[in-house]
Parts: sequence; C-alpha cells; structure tokens
Amino acid sequence: EKGGYDHFMLKEIYEQPSVIKDTYRGRLLANEGIIKMAGIEDNLEKFVNAQRIVIVACGTSWHAGLVAEYIFEEFTRIPVEVEYASEFRYRNPIINKGDVIIAISQSGETADTLAAIKLAKEKGAFVFGVCNVVGSSISRETHAGAYTHAGPEIGVASTKAFTTQITVLTLISLRIAKAKGTLSHSDYHNYLAELETIPEKVAEALKCNDVAKQIAAIYKDSPNCLYLGRGYNFPVALEGALKLKEISYIHAEGYPAAEMKHGPIALIDEHMPVIVIAPRQGHYDKVVSNIQEIKSRSGKIIAVVTKGDVQVRDLADHVIEIPDTVDALSPLLTTIPLQLLSYHIAVMRECNVDQPRNLAKSVTVE
Ligand code: F6R
Repeated sequence: EKGGYDHFMLKEIYEQPSVIKDTYRGRLLANEGIIKMAGIEDNLEKFVNAQRIVIVACGTSWHAGLVAEYIFEEFTRIPVEVEYASEFRYRNPIINKGDVIIAISQSGETADTLAAIKLAKEKGAFVFGVCNVVGSSISRETHAGAYTHAGPEIGVASTKAFTTQITVLTLISLRIAKAKGTLSHSDYHNYLAELETIPEKVAEALKCNDVAKQIAAIYKDSPNCLYLGRGYNFPVALEGALKLKEISYIHAEGYPAAEMKHGPIALIDEHMPVIVIAPRQGHYDKVVSNIQEIKSRSGKIIAVVTKGDVQVRDLADHVIEIPDTVDALSPLLTTIPLQLLSYHIAVMRECNVDQPRNLAKSVTVE
C-alpha cells in the first residue's frame, strides 16, 4: 500500500505532481482563460464584494493560509487576515457584514477549526471550506467549499495536502481577480498557463532527492536549524521548520529573512544550519544580502535556488535547485526540497516518520 516507498510520507511527497493536477483538473481551463469551481461560482458576489477575508486553520493548513494571504492580496486586492483557529475562537473576534471566512483543513475534523466555523456562522458570516476529506465535519458545517483532491494522506506530517490547498486557493484568487478586474488580462492568462505547468515542475523539483539526502547526512545531528524566506516564501520557511520539528525532533524555527537582525542572528555560529529559500523571482537581492550576513557569522547555508543560479551558489555551503516559475507560485516548488530534507533527516535519526511521537493525524480534541 506504500507503493514501493519506505514510508507513506515519501509516497505522498512523490504524489504531488499528480495530485496537484487532480486538484486543478476540470477547474483550470488555461487555453480558454476560464476557472470553473461550482462553490465559487454560486457565491461569486460574496467574494467579489468581500471587505475582508479571514482565513482560519491550524498547523500546516495555517501555513497554506499564509501563502494564500500573499496571493489573495496581490491578485484580488482584498485585505486578508490569517488566524489560528484556536486563537480566533476564544477572543470574541470582530466579524463584520461583508467578511468572508475561509476555513482550511486536510482532515475536515480539527476541533478548533470546526469551533471557529460555528462561531463565525453564529455571527452571520459566510464560511467557505477548503478540505481534503469528502463528507468530513468541516465540509458539512461550511456554507460552501472546494475540495483538494490530494487523496488519502496517511503520514502524520502533511505534505501533499499543503500543496493542493495552495493550488485550490490560487484558483479561487484567480477567479475572483478575473471577476474584479484586479489583474491585467495578460497577468491573468500568464498565471493560468504557469499553474498548468506546475505539476511537471514539481516532478523536476523532486529530482533533488539525492542532493537532499546528502545534505541530510551532514546536518542530521544538529540540535537546531533556522529556515528563512521572504514574501511568498516566508510561510514556506515556517512550514519547512514545522516539518523538521515534527518528524525529526530537531528544534527549528522559520523567520522572515529580514527579521534576523532583530534578534535571531544572535544564534548564528558555525554550528547553525540555516536553510534559505532564495528563488530568482522573489526578493532575490535582499535575500542575497541576508545570506551574506549569516555567512559573515560563520553560519552554514543550505540554499534553495532557481536552476542555473550562480550568485547564491558562490556564497552557500550547499544549494538545492528547483525550476523557475513566477514568484506567486514558487511555494509549490520551494516546499519540495524542504519536505525531502526533513524526511531524510528523520529517517537517518531513526525516527518514526509516519507516526511521530505525541502527534495524531486528526486533532479532534482542542
Ligand atoms: C503538520 C500537520 C498538522 C496539521 C494540523 C491541521 O504536518 O499535519 O499541523 O496541519 O493539525 O490539520 P487539518 O488540516 O486536518 O485541519
């Protein structure tokens, strides 16, 4: 049932090209310039007129929500807030008429997310769900929704759910942007065409597996690890750190790269591996100077770069290459090497990759 892979997590990492495609199949008609999603079409007015979108989720789904914040704001110009469901539900949140709530959950059973949805409904909000499990509690409790088509995710560490959530949320943003006219005609069409190429680019990114394994062997005994990214890739840094923590039990933290100088740079010495997400299309020059700051304090740099990069390659101790894409879609690629790195480190540390200690696949208690 693991399809020849040693662990479900690895199988699920490798399923990403096909499940991303399954998630946009029939919804993304790039040649026609159309996005078809019944749950959005039926409620288009609500999204178009939204004064604000509030995303509620936990864990990895919350990270997908953070990526979506950057995408929604850029594409649709609707202000977005991303909330931990557990914080949102206990703070008498302000929900105004015209707010749209999006709840993201792989399992559709997360207790805090479910409670946040019920609260938002009581306050009169329109609640839209992005779930993976068909017929789950959250999919039933929301007013409308769109499923990710990731298939069953067995590994406790979420991988393919994350990238398919981002895929669905990108489709939704593009549909709203089209209705609102907030993206130029050419940008809109370019994003559709680029999204269609993502599965083959994820397949290409997966070829870094051997490099990721070599790097894992060098750093597997590090007690700490930092992950840095900016813009669309700041949430990917958080997700990379979470993946490492939960399956390898190494302490890791994700930061927006520019925040280093406000404190965490004090942690840097020759024993600290720093994983820097530095694709060419992002805030590349800024990230390069952040890398220099770490270098000059003897930190070890593992950089995720766009294929063909030379500048970061000169500075970094190790590089992992991914294909080129537009900034907004880069999280779908940059996240791949981070998943593989965590996986190999956990295997080398003889951790129980698919069922890490203290964790459950669905958190049905608060
Ligand atoms: C991390 C992980 C958890 C879940 C979180 C939310 O790898 O699996 O952080 O993302 O418990 O779960 P769902 O998405 O099912 O609501």
